[in-house]
Amino acid sequence: MTPTATALHRTLATPPAPESAFPHNPGSLLSILDLSVEGVSRLLARATELEHMDPIVRDRILAKHRIALLFYESSTRTRTSFELACKSLGADTALISNLSSSIEKGESLKDTGLTLRALGAEAIILRHNSSGAPWLLEASTHLPVVNAGDGMHEHPTQALLDLRTILAHLRPGVTAVGPETLAGVTVTIVGDILHSRVARSNMLLLPRLGARVLFCGPKELLPEQAAHAAPRIEIERDFDRALAQSQAVMMLRIQAERLAGLQLDLDEYKAKYQLTGQRLAAHAPTAIVMHPGPIIRGMEITAGVADGPQSTILEQVTNGLAIRMAVMERALKHEQGEGA
Ligand code: CP
Repeated sequence: MTPTATALHRTLATPPAPESAFPHNPGSLLSILDLSVEGVSRLLARATELEHMDPIVRDRILAKHRIALLFYESSTRTRTSFELACKSLGADTALISNLSSSIEKGESLKDTGLTLRALGAEAIILRHNSSGAPWLLEASTHLPVVNAGDGMHEHPTQALLDLRTILAHLRPGVTAVGPETLAGVTVTIVGDILHSRVARSNMLLLPRLGARVLFCGPKELLPEQAAHAAPRIEIERDFDRALAQSQAVMMLRIQAERLAGLQLDLDEYKAKYQLTGQRLAAHAPTAIVMHPGPIIRGMEITAGVADGPQSTILEQVTNGLAIRMAVMERALKHEQGEGA
């Protein structure tokens, strides 16, 4: 097996941590698999309630609770929306970045987590460049830990906000989801599947609601084994054919920071996999166009498509706030009835 295929096998095909061991804390959200379909449905409904709630009432839900945002990787959307979500519920937040803390001096993740707990943090939101880091932090601190993206592994709140976006367009008015809610829907995920935690969390969520997930990309970024990573996953390497089958198309950035020496012919990549206005009009004129961000205009997507009428990119960002309010309420109020 080549190094990239081995990485994909570990990333996409290896089962998650044993259910009996993790999560230790019922408020944690380490993997999207920590949530049952009923748990997903409850979170979606609660996100909508919180979004529409009187801000003064909402402000009391987590009043004076302390939440730490621990970010070892850069972020715009996830970090800001988690922070605003916590503050919207009345919580006090502290942001710790690897670039301006004692992490720079060599302090370990475990010691950083224990320090934050000693300072009164009641939950930690973690983004880390190593897959599995949230599991280590949870095991070390026993606090509720929310995974805000770990390496090439998972990004569970991104999958939830993506689901909220898909439902708003393809199942408007649906207030509860179940195993057949997305029956008949094909979501195509395009590009750097190999390095994408967004692809992994979506492929572990959408098929459980009945959707078919179609992966599309070159062999270097999408090895054949991906088709066996979860039920209802298929590979279609021809982008035009994939688009023609799609009700939603999710474009991914090439993750230059994780390519580890892999050389790609970017002109060839763009010719085959860039989402252009012409391609979209010809093959998927009614599909919604999604992207987790950050987008690289002129690479995986043209500016015209990113800003065009089929784009839901900024709606996804907005949906992140409501979803993360519901996730953080669950993290700290889990014992009061919001089960998995
Ligand atoms: N979608 C996403 O995780 O974006 P950020 O890296 O900006 O948080």
